[in-house]
Amino acid sequence: MSQFVEFARTDMEMVSDLLARDAKKVPWPLLEQAPPTLGPTDLSIESYISPEIHAREVETIWKKTWQWACRIEEIPNVGDHIVYDIADQSVIVVRVATGAGPEAIRAYHNVCLHRGTKLRVSDGSVPKFRCPFHGWTWNLDGTFDWLPCEWDFPQVNKSELSLPEVRVELWKGFVMVNFDLQAKPLREFLGVVANHFEEFPLENWAISLHVEKVMPANWKVTMEAFMEAYHTVVTHPEILPYTGDANSQYDIYDEHSRMITPFAVASPHLGGPDFDQVKILQAMKAFRKGRNSEEAVTLAHGLSARDQALVDLRSGLEKAFRVDLSQESDTMILDAVQYFVFPNFMPWATFGTPLVYRFRPNGNDVDSCLMTLMLLRPFSGDRPAPAERRFLRADQPWTDDPGMKTLGVVYDQDASNVARVQKGLKAKTNATVKLGQYQESRIRHFHHVLDEYLAGTR
Ligand code: FES
Ligand SMILES: [Fe+2]
Repeated sequence: MSQFVEFARTDMEMVSDLLARDAKKVPWPLLEQAPPTLGPTDLSIESYISPEIHAREVETIWKKTWQWACRIEEIPNVGDHIVYDIADQSVIVVRVATGAGPEAIRAYHNVCLHRGTKLRVSDGSVPKFRCPFHGWTWNLDGTFDWLPCEWDFPQVNKSELSLPEVRVELWKGFVMVNFDLQAKPLREFLGVVANHFEEFPLENWAISLHVEKVMPANWKVTMEAFMEAYHTVVTHPEILPYTGDANSQYDIYDEHSRMITPFAVASPHLGGPDFDQVKILQAMKAFRKGRNSEEAVTLAHGLSARDQALVDLRSGLEKAFRVDLSQESDTMILDAVQYFVFPNFMPWATFGTPLVYRFRPNGNDVDSCLMTLMLLRPFSGDRPAPAERRFLRADQPWTDDPGMKTLGVVYDQDASNVARVQKGLKAKTNATVKLGQYQESRIRHFHHVLDEYLAGTR
């Protein structure tokens, strides 16, 4: 027996019902649905544990697809660069000119053409790229600059010694790279997602939190823990009073997908609209202020918890960021809209949950990965300096980061799950991974696309 309410899918208040009641104009992409169509096929566990499959992914995914390397505001000055490592590959992304145009940013393979030293091991700012081994040096534009004892290299033609380039394009403030010089343009690859994001001004948002952590599971196990709300009921019970978990909406677009999770409504597991409205607000406040908050909440006469949360959150965001959000829809203030861009990038669209995630293999280790979490914020006036990137080792909980606050508790619940999944999968007792047809449809679709890349048919 469960302490939760039993319900059928048809009993629930859906995202579309909430959007229909929105007091303001809802951005058009949120009104369009693209329901999943794939059947209930199981997945192979090998995808998560096999070094051979990882090696194939390096060739067919990581060397072939557009990937988020950094935000443009992380490299504001000429010479500023970041190092983007992916599996055993590495890229330098560098600003070579002022301005926000695509010509201002270049990306190169991060390898010295003398004897193969990794040119840069960390982010920074330099006037030229000088190899620390023998001093071969390149200009920021990739052309060769200095060859010590040139007389000793009769075989070398300096004009042919430019650093090999990696494709780079800008989108909504994100710097995206692709090893494949023949890859289709980013905008074409993003397809529907690019159309939708015309409505979401992420290029005007600033980085307010940036944390990277080694997670104790394969990159796909970890990423998939963030692609469904199905796990909320037992993994994150403290957010259940104000989270539409079972009534989240899932949409599928070519290679990509989306999840819309309403907040300030009670989970269908707790009775949905029948749940105590004051308890919805209490749980929201307790989460924001810390787990043991006993602070009383007030529900203005006649307002639902969602109405009241909207008033509170809208004014809270406006005050914190000194921006006018009075014309933004209820859903842009309250709900979570998470897009997934194949293979590993998740930009979220709303003011209320302005997250960005990225999941990458940790070198060639199939049992751990790097998870990047960024929080963006709107701003007025001058762009605030980007929050510094902080790093958490595998043994450090998310709560170790001073910026995570109660959010860290939730991510530690997820981290604990994925560690157990990885161990369980490696025991190879479970023959397959079984997925829900609707709530886990994005995971199934992701693997469908992944398999096509691995097979070379996409
Ligand atoms: S390996 Fe880079 S200069 Fe020798
Ligand atoms: Fe979770």
